[in-house]
Amino acid sequence: MSIRTCVFDAYGTLFDVAAAARQAAGEPGREALAARWPELAQHWRLKQLQYTWLRAVVDAHADFWQVTQDGLDWALEAVGLDGDAELRQRLLDLYWELRCYEEVPEMLRTLKAAGLQTAILSNGSPQMLDGAVQSAGIGTVLDDVLSVESVGVFKPHRRVYDLVQERFGGGPEDVLFVSSNGWDAAGAAGYGFRTAWVNRAGEPMDRLPWKPHHVLRDLTTVPALAENA
Ligand code: LAC
Repeated sequence: MSIRTCVFDAYGTLFDVAAAARQAAGEPGREALAARWPELAQHWRLKQLQYTWLRAVVDAHADFWQVTQDGLDWALEAVGLDGDAELRQRLLDLYWELRCYEEVPEMLRTLKAAGLQTAILSNGSPQMLDGAVQSAGIGTVLDDVLSVESVGVFKPHRRVYDLVQERFGGGPEDVLFVSSNGWDAAGAAGYGFRTAWVNRAGEPMDRLPWKPHHVLRDLTTVPALAENA
């Protein structure tokens, strides 16, 4: 079996979603956040994802920027920082320029040099993804950036994974899908892609009907995996 296309989830996989809270916490005058930023980042991420799943189930789509703001508002209230409008705005601004994990540019360059097609497939809105790709400087090593906005439903709906074949052709078995979100890697495996779950934090495997084919610690081994998957 040979992989022709490597497709990456964006937030948490290529881009470090905790970076906004971590960076803001290091800025002068943010002592209250400095004490609680890991908790804030965790609540923010979890609520953001829960809102995507709930909106998908009840067919009440709103774009990822909306659910990102809703998740942040819940998280700020949970840690007692909901009165700080300037902090809220700063965190949202930083979300548009999240840093990518350090191995990302070289990993994507290696895939392109090997003749593979590369893409992002993300819940993010096209504008958010454009901001993140530009600030990470990885636009030239991606063939495309696919957003769920073109189908109006969030992952792991099958219509989202369909976007890859609609863009690149071939069958699902030609695709290596890489995500740090266990549920996304599982959903993509259920769809028929070859899948790798990037488990940086050593979390337990999600209890779902499908399992990722590979579990990685970071993204450095993706090119070798794509060659041998
Ligand atoms: C994404 C979310 C799931 O980028 O992280 O699609």
